Amino acid sequence: MATSTANVATATVPNDLEPYWMPFTANRAFKARPRLVARAKDMHYFAPDGRKLIDGAAGLWCTNAGHNRDPIVAAIQRQAAELDYAPAFQFSHPKAFELASRVAALAPGDLDHVFFCNSGSEAVDTALKIALAFHNVRGNASRVRLIGRERGYHGVGFGGVAVGGIVSNRKQFGALLAGVDHLSSTYNRTEQAFTIGEPVWGRHLADELDRLVALHDASTIAAVIVEPVAASTGVLPPPQGYLQRLRAICDKHGILLIFDEVITGFGRLGHAFAAERYGVTPDMITFAKGVTSGAVPMGGVVVRKGIYDAFMKGPEHVIELFHGYTYSAHPLACAAGLATLDLYRDEDLFARAKKLEPLWAKAAMGLRELPNVLDIRPVGLTVGIDLASKPDAVGKRGLEALEAGYYEHDLMLRAVGDTLALSPPLIVSESQIGEIFDKVGKIIKQVA
Ligand SMILES: Cc1ncc(COP(=O)(O)O)c(C=O)c1O
Repeated sequence: MATSTANVATATVPNDLEPYWMPFTANRAFKARPRLVARAKDMHYFAPDGRKLIDGAAGLWCTNAGHNRDPIVAAIQRQAAELDYAPAFQFSHPKAFELASRVAALAPGDLDHVFFCNSGSEAVDTALKIALAFHNVRGNASRVRLIGRERGYHGVGFGGVAVGGIVSNRKQFGALLAGVDHLSSTYNRTEQAFTIGEPVWGRHLADELDRLVALHDASTIAAVIVEPVAASTGVLPPPQGYLQRLRAICDKHGILLIFDEVITGFGRLGHAFAAERYGVTPDMITFAKGVTSGAVPMGGVVVRKGIYDAFMKGPEHVIELFHGYTYSAHPLACAAGLATLDLYRDEDLFARAKKLEPLWAKAAMGLRELPNVLDIRPVGLTVGIDLASKPDAVGKRGLEALEAGYYEHDLMLRAVGDTLALSPPLIVSESQIGEIFDKVGKIIKQVA
């Protein structure tokens, strides 16, 4: 396999890998055969030995502007030298307000206030807490139920796991939150296989919300949370009209609608937020990842004006929402966020993703006839490719594909079970799209 090591500094592999308990990783398999990266630039990672790998996954769906972009690096360096930390409670710093305005300007409708945190999981738990507190301050304290969706991923906080719909994330952690219910997943392979973009079948599944209202009564339900495209469980685009229908049912019953846009935000679907792609205005949007192009941890929630205003009552010296994090709106994250949003604007990266979408989808569908391919779901600049599981070894083919990508084909990809998920930085070129799918095709054949 061709590799490039030109002009690349090498880094040493640590002697002792044991003390680090890695997240969402098969630790023993990894430590027996580590997959390390030491450096990155634009579309590429570099292994410790200098080997160059193309990034088909934007890190972990986050480096949307590409890796180590000079303006972002410089902004972080300047900020670290100028103001390392500002207290997040009762004090702040100018860039926090500036970034809130910039993020709000990208959000649709009257979503115009931003609460900052440090990750997608915190963003989700923040949004769920705001939903409960919103009904509480308006005198509707009985509205405590939260509705999520099967195959939803909303991070790893107790709230996010409770509304999430991934059994492995739930089964070891006890009773989670009380009063949570779930809509069905919108994915059905028989009805939807090999659809480009949003499938026609499945809009009716939004009507399950009406069924849950009939079961629990609207007066007990605070909010519904969904990912516009369920990304982490294999890229499941919403059926046509589904999100619009959810919005209508929420409106009918006074239920808040939360879009978890931790992955779909910041250009992945060709718009600042998926809300814009689907023409649906939720009551809250959670975001993280792409807001700083992955360079500094940051997350947040954008809320509609009416939600913020509902809290701004009572004596002015009293804290309106008893919630926050030491590192909410951290100066380094804000500096990285501002530089990242500048890059998205100056390079028109969201429009670029939209323009590349047809080419991306066509290249993805070119893998259709390869062995074990059960479904391919391209949407925006991402795709899920389902491979048949090996008998009695669910997830093994996916891990083998990931390993083959790293060791033999110089490609970083993501595998969720036996589904391969691709989501390159939005700066990917047309020829790099060809290169990525060429490599994925070889990998699929290799793990057949
Ligand atoms: C939709 C969604 N919500 C929440 C999260 C959790 O984000 P984090 O890992 O930053 O806590 C993720 C992570 O992939 C996600 O995809």
